[in-house]
Amino acid sequence: MARLCGWITISFAGALLAGCASSQQPDLAVTQSADATIEQPAVALASAQGMANPDIWPAYDYPVPLQPDDEARIAGLLAAMTIEEKVGQLVQADLCCVTPEDVKTYNLGSILVGGNSGPNGNDLSPAPDWLAAADEFYLSSVDTSDGGVGIPLVWGTDAVHGHSNIIGATLFPHNIGLGAMRDVALIEKIGAITAKEIRVTGQEWTFAPTVAVPQDFRWGRAYEGYSSDPDLVASYVGAMVRGLQGPPGNDDLLSGPYVIASTKHFLADGGTDNGVDQGDSSISEEDLRDIHGKPYGPAIAEGVSTVMISFSSWHGKKMTGNKSLVTGVLKDRMDFGGFVVSDWNAHGQVAGCTNESCPQALMAGIDMYMAPDTWKPVYEDLLARAKAGTIPMARIDDAVTKILRVKGRLGLFDAGKPSDRPLSGQYELLGAPEHRAVAREAVRKSLVLLKNEGILPIAPGGRLLVAGDGADDIARQSGGWTLTWQGTGVDNSHFPGATSIWDGLKQAVEAGGGSAVHSPDGSFTQRPDAAVVVFGETPYAEFQGDRAALALDPELTKPYDTIRELKAKGIPVVALMVTGRPLYTNPALNAADAFAVAWLPGSEGGGIADVLIGDTSGNARYDFAGKLPADWPRTTLLSEGVLYPYGYGLDYSSPAQGWAALPELDTEALAGDSRLWFSAGAPAARWSLLVTGETTGEQTRITTVPAEALGGRARITAENYLVQEGARRFTIASGNASVQLRNFEPVNIDRETNADIMLLVTAKVWESPTSARLGAIGEGSRGFTAFDMPQNDEFVRYGIPLKCLRSNGADVTSLTQPFVLETSGPTDFALGEVRLGTDAQQILPCS
Ligand code: BGC
Ligand code: BGC
Repeated sequence: MARLCGWITISFAGALLAGCASSQQPDLAVTQSADATIEQPAVALASAQGMANPDIWPAYDYPVPLQPDDEARIAGLLAAMTIEEKVGQLVQADLCCVTPEDVKTYNLGSILVGGNSGPNGNDLSPAPDWLAAADEFYLSSVDTSDGGVGIPLVWGTDAVHGHSNIIGATLFPHNIGLGAMRDVALIEKIGAITAKEIRVTGQEWTFAPTVAVPQDFRWGRAYEGYSSDPDLVASYVGAMVRGLQGPPGNDDLLSGPYVIASTKHFLADGGTDNGVDQGDSSISEEDLRDIHGKPYGPAIAEGVSTVMISFSSWHGKKMTGNKSLVTGVLKDRMDFGGFVVSDWNAHGQVAGCTNESCPQALMAGIDMYMAPDTWKPVYEDLLARAKAGTIPMARIDDAVTKILRVKGRLGLFDAGKPSDRPLSGQYELLGAPEHRAVAREAVRKSLVLLKNEGILPIAPGGRLLVAGDGADDIARQSGGWTLTWQGTGVDNSHFPGATSIWDGLKQAVEAGGGSAVHSPDGSFTQRPDAAVVVFGETPYAEFQGDRAALALDPELTKPYDTIRELKAKGIPVVALMVTGRPLYTNPALNAADAFAVAWLPGSEGGGIADVLIGDTSGNARYDFAGKLPADWPRTTLLSEGVLYPYGYGLDYSSPAQGWAALPELDTEALAGDSRLWFSAGAPAARWSLLVTGETTGEQTRITTVPAEALGGRARITAENYLVQEGARRFTIASGNASVQLRNFEPVNIDRETNADIMLLVTAKVWESPTSARLGAIGEGSRGFTAFDMPQNDEFVRYGIPLKCLRSNGADVTSLTQPFVLETSGPTDFALGEVRLGTDAQQILPCS
């Protein structure tokens, strides 16, 4: 192992130092006082360049025995495989972009279904289609009619809170809620149920558990982690892996109710500076090890079969290309004996790589490339290099062996086609009552009570008003990674058998002889005895959930008024928050009599009523058991103080608190959501709205309306959209015109472009132009697509895939005008909103 071992003298402040240790010198760490000038080993310099020192990491023993018969078989296969077959094993394609025929032709080792893919091009395909697709792909992979050894492929899916891509499956609370619950035994049950439900539809591999230890909850993926506390995360991981895979000695998973797991994302996905998704972490190697590395120990001790590498970087070096961490720490030092998979085109972000070519990742220790839509160039590139001898055959054989070992442990070589395996096609197991009961228990146990001025539990006999915008919305209570990638575009009809929070409350109140009404805005005709106001975040997943501040988006704060109005009428109010993370919510805490956090509970909303609604004699049926899995902020930045610390949570025996009003901030002014470029009639902070014509001189920045531009050819006025004057209307008499949004600094939407994100343009058109196109402009680059702007009496949200702008020439890493609408001829239209997102009403074809 390469390690720098000289000594240099530098000055530093209060850091923990590791010496130039060898394995014989286990612990040379010393604490130095601030500002000491001392001898510091060159390893510190190395870590500043993203180079780890494996010797300071804990060592483990991978407990999965190598079965002699499997080993002999694998050696035989390896000897028989052509170089093409070997390289094929290293590549994983997404269902979006691969056919069973491709799998056969290229001997692909694996397929996955990403957040937006599904069998037959349908993200919402019914369960039987999944099993049919599993059979089809499997049969192609083992088809040896044109020669070859026919290695069965393994199919991976993001079953991250239950088998969460499948309609009708049991949806458990997202990990952050499970962290609040503090119940290791239940975690194992959840893992076991998830594995069973996956097996019903024929997949063998889940990309779970996420063992991120989020340190900054502005990160949009924070809810995928159990807690900010490494020990809590570490205490869960082994149980989840065991639930999914069974005990480490298991060597034939598919004969039992199991799948293989993947701990992700190695390493420090939750440790990026400012919580930026796929960002950089500049922490010390000790923090890397002690915070983010901690959960990998128990995962390896339980024999986790795969580890997924993080998109993020450490000291500027992308994890996917970091040999010292992937090979040095994970494989060698920690003895991880399964295989390593990279993340969605993450190899393309490694220095010197592209999405199509990255031998560096293999050399760093990646065994399987997640190359969703790039599998063919990645395969061809690896193959050419292998043939030319520029990547060593030994590394390829090593990676193939690791993949085949995991396939052997699964029992894949003898399991037959998916539909012939145990549990396959038993659709009644999806959302089975006994599975839902476990999920409901988890919901109950994850509820955290932050305030109770004596009004909980609610007596069931009276009249309950359920208000707020989130009470009867199962998609919302389930969050991202639910049926669709971002969890958007689905409604209650997509969740057969599930219970919304409202349904649960109604059932509990009626069972106790009372009545309940659902009224989102809180209005009522018959005065209620009590109200529950359900509010909070709406679904998001990767990077769409990143925020600059720990606050609800302004449009989600209306329920605060509802709480105040009900209180003003003397009605006792319980505020119930649906959220993926602790957020500033002082207005609700101040105004409501009681406040509970439900996190993202999933399909069993009834678990909430179990705790909030008491029995007919006024006693609680279930007590609050949840404790905060992370600090709750006092303001919109955690650095400004903790309101409730990690571990806080009241129950029915807690003494009365006495309430001192919390400070309330103006959060409307926060530049929170970097995806929103134009709304409510105005560009976002740092953006400007421009109208330009044929020459650069013909340019007007629109600040107030009415305004004129293009020498009088264009008139700009206000139009109503969502709010009064919430849109800008452009009436152009003749000629060419261009409406643009410009940012002070060039905008980089590369990571959004890699995924299925769109530019969403909400427009109403009174008069169509002769022709129009939509696109983006960078320094010396531009990408456009035609937009015919049909006349419409309503505002319509159009979406252009960012991929289309890129493929049409825009440099998405540096856009000066990320939104441009060019028209020619007389036209009359209004823009209501411009933003990034996934929920288009109409997707424009890329032309
Ligand atoms: C995510 C992973 C996920 C993979 C497949 C990636 O973008 O980071 O967590 O497993 O996609 O959907
Ligand atoms: C896929 C996700 C993936 C993401 C990568 C999306 O298009 O559906 O599965 O995680 O891209 O950023």
